[in-house]
Amino acid sequence: MSSLYQNKYKDLIELNNLPEHIAVIMDGNGRWAKKQGKPRVFGHKNGVKAVREATEACAEIGIKYLTLYAFSTENWNRPSFEVTALMELLVLTIGREVKTLQKNNIRLNAIGNLSSLPSKTRIELEKAIEATKNNTRMTLTLALSYGSREEIFEAFLKMAQDFKDEKINLQELNPESIKNYLQTSQIPDPELLIRTSGECRVSNFLLWQIAYTEFIFTDKLWPEIGKEDFYSFIYQYQQRERRFGKTSEQINS
Ligand code: IPE
Ligand code: IPE
Ligand code: MG
Repeated sequence: MSSLYQNKYKDLIELNNLPEHIAVIMDGNGRWAKKQGKPRVFGHKNGVKAVREATEACAEIGIKYLTLYAFSTENWNRPSFEVTALMELLVLTIGREVKTLQKNNIRLNAIGNLSSLPSKTRIELEKAIEATKNNTRMTLTLALSYGSREEIFEAFLKMAQDFKDEKINLQELNPESIKNYLQTSQIPDPELLIRTSGECRVSNFLLWQIAYTEFIFTDKLWPEIGKEDFYSFIYQYQQRERRFGKTSEQINS
């Protein structure tokens, strides 16, 4: 493949019309492994390479926020050996990647029920978050033990408590107030959501935040994803007209 072809999409991207935040449902590791007669965990290990590719592609082009769905609240129901392997893979990967995050000025962040993670995983994660907290080029958020309904429920509980403590009053509340109580309060809503592996569902990810997000579903399995795929997703996003309820004529006048 010539380098010209490899850079096809990267060169087509308009840098003044980038999504600020891209969210990704990384799916298909198990099927990728199975296709080559390997155990599912082999797929997760190879998924790490795609995480690196996605992170580099986004940072290089100037995306400010990348959020990766790595483990859902529902994923706790998988066979325990797979859950254990995933948690150990996280420890290894986070430990190994901190230097690269530092070098590339990327801040690591996490959302989800982090207290439910095994302590080794949580400690490694907290160390990396602390070490990279002053980095400014891009924020990489891992959704770990994350479920959007749980996140919204927690937000309601905190809101109710603040109401009880007379920190807020009902007249002041508006839809924006809800955002402030979510774990993503410091992150803009994603303009683009990508899901790999051909599944066309949201699987309890960022339900509140994706009200006006553009979706891209690709048949590629997560471990097959490379930088150029990411550039093609961003390019596809840029071909769309985001109307927010208005007419095309209104948008273009
Ligand atoms: C995504 O790949 C990774 C996680 C959910 C942890 P899967 O493990 O869901 O792979 P498939 O969907 O079974 O192929
Ligand atoms: C969604 O993938 C969660 C992550 C990518 C971490 P799943 O593979 O668990 O989703 P379902 O069960 O097919 O919807
Ligand atoms: Mg899956």
